[in-house]
Amino acid sequence: MRKSRYFLVMLCSILLTPVTSIAASNTDSAKINLGRILYFDSNLSMNRNQSCASCHAPPGFVDPANTSDPVNSVVSLGSFPELNGGRNSPSAGYAAFTPVFNWDAVNNRYAGGQFWDGRADTLTDQAKGPFLNPVEMAMPDARAVLDRLIDGENINQTRYVHLFDRVYGIDLNNTTQLNNPAYVDTLYTMLADAIAEFEKSTTFTKFTSKYDHWLAGSTELSPTEQLGMQLFNGKAMCSSCHVSTVLSAADGSVIPPVFSDYSYANIGIPKSLNPLIADLPVDYGLGGRDDIAAIDPDGLQLGKFKVMSLRNIEITAPYGHNGYFATLEEMVNFLNTRDVANWYPPEVAQNLNTEQTGNLGLSAKEEAALVDFLKTLTDGYR
Ligand code: HEC
Ligand code: HEC
Repeated sequence: MRKSRYFLVMLCSILLTPVTSIAASNTDSAKINLGRILYFDSNLSMNRNQSCASCHAPPGFVDPANTSDPVNSVVSLGSFPELNGGRNSPSAGYAAFTPVFNWDAVNNRYAGGQFWDGRADTLTDQAKGPFLNPVEMAMPDARAVLDRLIDGENINQTRYVHLFDRVYGIDLNNTTQLNNPAYVDTLYTMLADAIAEFEKSTTFTKFTSKYDHWLAGSTELSPTEQLGMQLFNGKAMCSSCHVSTVLSAADGSVIPPVFSDYSYANIGIPKSLNPLIADLPVDYGLGGRDDIAAIDPDGLQLGKFKVMSLRNIEITAPYGHNGYFATLEEMVNFLNTRDVANWYPPEVAQNLNTEQTGNLGLSAKEEAALVDFLKTLTDGYR
């Protein structure tokens, strides 16, 4: 008994090692620690009431207000709670695996980037946004964020002084240079860089789901979970976008999938009727970005949103860029029956994917099996 358990532990660590090294250089633990403190610090929002973790809290790295009431709370409220954006907070878990936004010339399409429309190239670029977004943390400028690090009301003050010195060789108490915009920019980028380092750490990329244990041979999937997996990779065509290929590293070890190819598609989610966002203009996603619109005269990117990772999907409701679906059951039913049942029309009609979504011919039992499989992707399986 003891021997076989030892073997499984060995196997697990062999299988799981390469992934963590892709995600992060965990060697830089001081930087990760700095990023962790910043990530959870609500002093860095206008009303000292919101941190990154408010909208991306572990274990699912989404907004707990949304997960606990996915029918009504479809988007996150800001530091000024009367303000909100139009998009559902995606999970920050596994976001570290998303490549930089790029044109994939082989497949003739865009891929990668952070946000539902990929507009931030990297996690560092992404992390600079929320502090200054009026409907999120609502700080007036980068200088104001830096001032809050050591403004006396911040209980993390001494830790920040210590860690900025240790990680970046910067003396936060020397404020004379803060009138120099280039210096402010450098410091603000360091702050974002530390947060990104934390997001690359194994805190965000655990690979400890039932599915991972099954890959490692340390547990079995139930018959319905197995059926769900077969459908996911076969008849239901989910894996054509939520890629499930298990790769091998050069040393022969296994690299588990993150369930996304990071491409963009319009799967036809209807416009939300939720009072928080119903009055907002149509969200054109990728094609609505000014830079993309300028080079896309035929509107080929309109209505497309990023294929999201499905890891931890069980605990990240609601679903879709506008939080239209409160449950996985509804979302899967929609993908199966969009074109043959009585759904509201897609928010954006152009570029609707009809090849792999909309009429899959799955039975109710098959839909349920798919959901059961999706629930094997939740980290922390024992
Ligand atoms: C008020 C809620 C809120 C706060 C606070 C917030 N975010 Fe977000 N976050 C969102 C929303 C909404 C999106 C999607 C926006 C979009 O796609 O346009 C998002 C997107 C992201 C993404 C992209 C994930 C992906 O796969 O595309 C990451 C990473 C992220 N946030 C990290 C952070 C970090 C780091 C902070 C703190 C500096 C933070 N967020 C603060 C709501 C929030
Ligand atoms: C053509 C590519 C494509 C296929 C095929 C596809 N998806 Fe997706 N999926 C997407 C895109 C793109 C999004 C985000 C769309 C949006 O929000 O507008 C998404 C979103 C989701 C979400 C919500 C993610 C989140 O974070 O809110 C779930 C769950 C999901 N898909 C499951 C599935 C399942 C199960 C299947 C198979 C039945 C499937 N998908 C097939 C492209 C695809």
